[in-house]
Amino acid sequence: MRHLMSPMDLSVEELDQLLDLANDIENNPKKYAHACDGKRLATLFYEPSTRTRLSFEAAMMNLGGTVLGFSSANSSSASKGESVSDTMRVTSCYADIAAMRHPKEGAPLVASMSSLIPVINAGDGGHQHPTQTLTDLLTIRSLKGRLDNITVGLCGDLKFGRTVHSLIEALVRYENVKFVLISPEELRVPSYIREEVLTNNNIEFMEVERLEDALPDLDILYMTRVQKERFFNEEDYVRMKDFYILDKQKMELAKEDMFILHPLPRVNEISVEVDKDPRAAYFQQAQYGVYVRMALILTLLEVEV
Ligand code: NCD
Repeated sequence: MRHLMSPMDLSVEELDQLLDLANDIENNPKKYAHACDGKRLATLFYEPSTRTRLSFEAAMMNLGGTVLGFSSANSSSASKGESVSDTMRVTSCYADIAAMRHPKEGAPLVASMSSLIPVINAGDGGHQHPTQTLTDLLTIRSLKGRLDNITVGLCGDLKFGRTVHSLIEALVRYENVKFVLISPEELRVPSYIREEVLTNNNIEFMEVERLEDALPDLDILYMTRVQKERFFNEEDYVRMKDFYILDKQKMELAKEDMFILHPLPRVNEISVEVDKDPRAAYFQQAQYGVYVRMALILTLLEVEV
């Protein structure tokens, strides 16, 4: 039985196979419509979510399966003091596979240890968000035709943004991927990412503060929101929240074939006028999230179509 806690749980070959499967699902949805008949997905969400939970549920329903779960800690027995281990052990009796989101780093890993079914980390605190990374990889590969030989700019809250951490870990395994890390001093990537993931793998990267300086060189611009819920005080958040605003004028500095990604939700960091730019790919990205989660469910349940 396999779980997915981090993108590193999949080899590059497995990742490529999973993305191929997602493309096949996109092109032949009918072929997969009954692949999970009689199977159940549990969504155990202790933290707010729109896309991740709904796309997981849509994915299971598209495969003919059903879903059950909770969407906040308040509506689960966590509010009575139940541990994630116990909740997970019990969920194993009701479902075939589970996706868990939790504000504490490592909670889905702890849950997986008592689980009798595959557990997917759907976001753990400021740590990892592997299924967003699968979505991001599928989007980049579909739009650019490759995952190697690209320059990726990551902009915004690189400190608390778990999607950023997972995406960097996944992309360093492809040839000649360069990173431009665009953030205010206070929101730079954690040192373990800078040292253990980038420096130790001899990856070319730059850290800059001004988005305008980075834009002309990028093939992908990955925007992120400032992670309000991970700040210790409101004042720091308010100071940081509008640090970056991507607008039409700034987009004039970008390449014609650069794409803008964003895991969403967007707050202020991308002006709505940019949505009409053909390079804005963030809503398409949300659609890819369904195909890739379908592929992941099939892979972890070992369903062959
Ligand atoms: C992200 C998350 O939850 O980390 N959202 C998502 O799953 N698409 C990004 C965010 O909340 O900023």
